Formats: sequence, C-alpha cells, structure tokens
Amino acid sequence: MPSAHPLITEFQRAGQAQVFAFFDELAPDAQAHLLAEAAEIDLAEIDRLNRTLVAQSGAAAGVNLSGLVPAPYEPLVGGDAVAWERAKRAGEEALRAGRVAAFTVAGGQGTRLGYDGPKGTFPVTPVLGKTLFQVFAEKLLAAGRRYGRPLHWFIMTSHQNHAATEAFFAEHNFFGCDAARVHFFRQGRMPAVDFSGKILLESKGSIALSPDGHGGSLRALDRSGALELMKREGIDTLSYFQVDNPLVRAIDPSFIGWHLLRGSEMSSKMVPKAYAEEKLGHFCAQNGRLVVVEYSDLPMPMQRETDASGQLRYRAGSIALHLLDREFIRRMARSDGSAVALPFHRADKKIPAIDAAGQPVKPAQANGVKFELFVFDALPFAQNPLVIETLRAGDFSPVKNAEGLDSPQTCRDDQRRQFARWLKAHGAALVTDATGLPAINLEVAPSFGYDEDSFAESWARQTVQPALVDGLVLV
Ligand code: UD1
Repeated sequence: MPSAHPLITEFQRAGQAQVFAFFDELAPDAQAHLLAEAAEIDLAEIDRLNRTLVAQSGAAAGVNLSGLVPAPYEPLVGGDAVAWERAKRAGEEALRAGRVAAFTVAGGQGTRLGYDGPKGTFPVTPVLGKTLFQVFAEKLLAAGRRYGRPLHWFIMTSHQNHAATEAFFAEHNFFGCDAARVHFFRQGRMPAVDFSGKILLESKGSIALSPDGHGGSLRALDRSGALELMKREGIDTLSYFQVDNPLVRAIDPSFIGWHLLRGSEMSSKMVPKAYAEEKLGHFCAQNGRLVVVEYSDLPMPMQRETDASGQLRYRAGSIALHLLDREFIRRMARSDGSAVALPFHRADKKIPAIDAAGQPVKPAQANGVKFELFVFDALPFAQNPLVIETLRAGDFSPVKNAEGLDSPQTCRDDQRRQFARWLKAHGAALVTDATGLPAINLEVAPSFGYDEDSFAESWARQTVQPALVDGLVLV
C-alpha cells in the first residue's frame, strides 16, 4: 500500500495530506519523484512559518521598526584618505596571500527582465555584447593575475538554471578561467503554501518549490563543501555579489582591507540613495545592531526624511555587495531554527498550482506565500560589522528590468560613462555630454582594465594612443 510510506504518514500527521492526493494515480517513477521532493521539506519548519508568518495578516507582518536609526558608515567622499590608503594596502596584501574568493549569487528567477535563461548568460557590454558571466570571469581572471593568485569563484545556481549555467561555462571554455577553480552549487528550495498554510502542488506529481532566497547561500555554501574547500586553500574571506551588476568591483582591495583591519565578520558597501523612492535596502541600526530594512518595509515618510544638511536621513542604500568571513558563514549556516538564525520573509505571489480536483489554476492575484531568506539578515549576528561607502558610478548599475530604470540600456550607458571617465582621466580627448556619456560607443575589456588602477597600469604601458572612434575596444 503506497499510503503506508512513512513520509506520506508524516505529511498526513502534519495536516499536509493534500501533497499526496494524487499519489495513487502516478506511475512508479513519478511517485519516486514526488517522494524525493517531499523529503526536501522540513515539516516542522513549515509549521513554524505557518504559525509565525502565514497566520499573520499582511505581507509586512513581523517588520519591527522600533528604535530604528540610520546606520553609521565609513565615508569615502570627504573621508579619512590615510585610513582608506591603509585599507587598500591591507586588502592587496590579503589578495597576494590568496585569502579571498569570489561568490556570485545567480539562483534568482530574473522574472522582471523577462529573459529566458540563466540571468548570467544575458549580454550586457556596450560594443561586444559580452554576457554578465563573461564580464565577471574576465574581471576575476585579471585580478588573479594582478595579485599573482588565481581566484576561486563560487557560483550559486538554482534547480531551474543549474544545468544550463554549467553548460554555458563549458561551452565557452570557462572564459579562460581554470575550470578547477570555478565551483557551481545549487541553492535550497522551499515549498509555497496557500493562505491557510497548505503546501501547494504544481502538478499531481510535483510540489510548488522555489529557491529559498539569496540568504539560502549560507547554508548552501556549507552543504556544498565550499567552506571546507576555502579552509583547505587558506581562504577566509568571501566577496559576495549579485549576478545582475556588471559594474561591480568584484575584487576591491580597499573594501577587503577595511573588513580585515576592523576584524569584521561581515561588511557591506553602501551608496547614498539617489532619491527617496529608490528601491534599495537601507542600512540602519537597531538596538546597537546593524540591520538592512528593505525598501518595501521602510514607511515612505521615513524614506523621505531629511537631516540638518538637507540630505536623506536614511540615505545608506544597500547595493548587495558584502564580504563574509568563512567561519561566520559556517556559524550562520548551522544555526537553522535557533534564535540566531536568518529569519524567513514572506512573499505573497501568484503561484501556478493545481486545485483539489487536480485542475491547473493560473491565478490572476496572489494565491499563496513563498518563503525566502535574505543574506543581509546575517549582519545583526556579525562581530564588528562594517559599512563603507563606494562610488555608485564605479560599482553599481544592475540589470533588473527590460526597460526604463536599471535596464540593459541604462547599464550599457553606465559602462560607457565609466570607460570614458578612465580615458579622460588619462588625457584622452573624448567628447562627453553633461552626464558623462561619451559621443562614441566604446568598451574596455577587463583584461585591459577592471578598475581604475588596473586601467592606469595598462594605459601607461601603451606606446600608441588608440583612435577615439565609434566602436573602440581596448583589450
Ligand atoms: C536586491 C536587494 C536590495 C538591494 C538590491 C540592489 C533583496 C531582497 N533586495 O533587490 O536590498 O538594494 O538588490 O540591487 O535582496 N538570488 C538568488 N537566489 C534567490 C533569490 C535571489 O541567487 O533565491 C540572487 C539573484 O540571482 C540576484 C540577487 O540574488 O543575483 C538579487 O535578487 P533580486 O530578487 O533580483 O533582488 P532585488 O529585489 O532586485
């Protein structure tokens, strides 16, 4: 009798019998598939989330704003130049000692961009149309060469895009990186539930599972063996960045230096928000702890508050760039279910599912809840956490939407502005408009310059100045 399977009994006892409602109709391999999916689910965790998050009304349930103030940060503009220089030297030393690895979170579904395929395979550069993954690969290769220590690169995928991501790298020969130093691993999944806490089925033989959020990266790093590998290789610092931001200084010696000199377990970069409604998380302090409050959770009147200097009071915007200490990641990864674990967030979504009769429903409105972990929720648990300022123009221009703000167009323009700034700083007579956008299309390959310093070195080695014509590529 299939219903005698212990897992099915467990689901029945937990009030989740509907997961196996069509079990007897399934072929044996489909039954095995459903059982394997069910085995991924921690029923006690779902029960806890149902009680704490789903039973509460409204998506904002649980966001506590009491005692919230803006977080302090280390300013770059007008900051302590000597301290910044000291940090840079310390970071360079750590890179030469091979203490740093790179980490890209690439498990998101990229729904807003409307692109079919892993987001990292999306073309972004202005002349050559290199993909996000290629840009990161070339930056990491160049940084590894510069410091004489090739970097390990961890890439977190999802069940949906894992095979396609690996195939893409293989097809492109890992963009010149040593395949033995590029490590892919899947993030975990969580089931979606309806508003009464019942786990949803996507079809008769499969559960509506989705990625557990970028915060799932901490447990996935542990589970995949990445932390052990880091330990064996003498790597204690992980440079975390999102797959959507080709402008990122994936390896930034100043940031690394600040993090190490402060003895920080987790550090983050901020940019001053461009305007109050900008959709960035906010660095805040709450009862002496560093926290990030999402744009959707901070009431708009607070986002609009200004200080005595007329600047936004909550101006420290999170651009999702972090440095994490290896043993801190391990500690957080193993704290599941305890008071010091990352909390789950509730997201009400339209979830394609089947109804009690087994018929597919395409919901017009949110019909259920997904549970997600956010990596920045680790900040309050870190020793000596630190926020430093960075220049937006040199670190942040994400591709999130198909058009308008944070789109492929704005991102290509920001890359062109950056290349133009570097060229002009070294005397090239480039014509730019008031926003710094050059009249010509151009591209600087990361092998020539992946940041201002590396660009300056390559530029100084050139014997002939390039012609400043449309389509210029510096390699
Ligand atoms: C995110 C941040 C926001 C920050 C902004 C900067 C959250 C909730 N918000 O917003 O604070 O100001 O970026 O650009 O993160 N990902 C996974 N697995 C998942 C979910 C996401 O790997 O399960 C990855 C995505 O591939 C992407 C990154 O996390 O690289 C960001 O995810 P996304 O959902 O696009 O975040 P945003 O809402 O844009």
